[in-house]
Amino acid sequence: MSSPKSSPFDLGSWVQTRSKEVDHALDRFLPKATVRPGTIHKAMRYSLFAGGKRMRPALALAAAEACGGDSKEAMPLACAVECIHTYSLIHDDLPAMDNDDFRRGKPTNHKVFGEGIAVLAGDALLTQAFEIAAQARSWPRYSHRDLALEIAKASGSLQLIAGQVADLEGEGKKVSLAQLQYIHERKTSALLCCSVRLGGMSANCTPAQLQTLTDFGYNVGLAFQVIDDILDVTQSTETLGKTAGKDVTAQKATYPRLVGLEKSKKIAASLTAKAFAALKPFRGRAVALEALAKYLLERDR
Ligand code: IPE
Ligand code: IPE
Ligand code: MG
Ligand code: MG
Ligand code: MG
Repeated sequence: MSSPKSSPFDLGSWVQTRSKEVDHALDRFLPKATVRPGTIHKAMRYSLFAGGKRMRPALALAAAEACGGDSKEAMPLACAVECIHTYSLIHDDLPAMDNDDFRRGKPTNHKVFGEGIAVLAGDALLTQAFEIAAQARSWPRYSHRDLALEIAKASGSLQLIAGQVADLEGEGKKVSLAQLQYIHERKTSALLCCSVRLGGMSANCTPAQLQTLTDFGYNVGLAFQVIDDILDVTQSTETLGKTAGKDVTAQKATYPRLVGLEKSKKIAASLTAKAFAALKPFRGRAVALEALAKYLLERDR
C-alpha cells in the first residue's frame, strides 16, 4: 500500500502497524486451533488470517484516534467488526450464495473444510464478535448495551442481511438505481459505518462527533461497495485475491452494470468527497480517516 501523495501522513505504515496489532489481538481473542473441536477453530482462523485488508478495524481505530481515544480501548470493537465481516464473507462465498472458490488469495472456506463446517465457522465468528465486544470498556455515554445494539443492528435482518437478501433476489433482474443503493447501503455501508461509530464510542465521543462519524461512515461505506463493483470488472483475479468478473457471470446488480464504468467511478469519487466534507468538524484531527477514505477510493484490490 502506498501512502497518499498529497499528505505527509504515512498511511502505509499506519495501516501496517495497526493491522499487526489487530492480528495479534484477534489471535488472543480466538480459541487456539488446537482447542476442541479443532476443526471449527481451524476453519475460523483459516479465513480470519487469510490476508484481508483489515479496513473495518482500521476505520474503527482511526475514528477512535480522531476523537482523542486510545487504540487499546478500540481494539476489542475493531476485532469484533472484523469477525462479523469475515463471517459474512464465508457465507457470501457458499455455493448457495455467490458460489466462489477463491477468497483473500486462498481457496474459500467451504472448499477447504466443506460446506457444513463453513456454515458453522461463519456462525461461530458472528457469535465470537459479541463475546469480544463484551470485553470492551464501557463509558458513561456508551454502555455494553449500546455497543451490542450497534453491532446487532448493523449485522441484522434490517441491514447487512437485508442487503444480502436483496442482492440475491436482484440476480438476473432489472434493478433500479434506488434498489441498488438500498442493497449497497445495507450489505456493505452499514458495517463500515458501524466500525467507524464503534471507534468513536470507544473514545466516549460526543453525540456531535458520533453524527460526524456516521455521515463519514455512510458515504465511505457506500463508496466502498461501488469500488468493489468496479474492481470486479477492472482487476485480475490475482490482484483481487478473489475471482474477477463474477458479478457479470452471476448477473449481479452492480453500479457498472447499471450506469457504466465511468459514471460508477464518478459516483465513488463524489461519495468520497462527501465523506471528506463530513470530517470538517474534526478540524484536521482526523488525518487517518481522511487518508483511509482517499486510499479506499484509489485502491486496486
Ligand atoms: C469485500 O470486503 C466484501 C465487501 C463488502 C465488498 P473487503 O474488500 O474489505 O475484503 P477483505 O477483508 O479485504 O478480504
Ligand atoms: C459482499 O458483497 C457483501 C457481504 C459479504 C456482506 P460482494 O458479494 O460483492 O463481495 P465480494 O465481491 O464477494 O467480496
Ligand atoms: Mg455477494
Ligand atoms: Mg460475493
Ligand atoms: Mg463484489
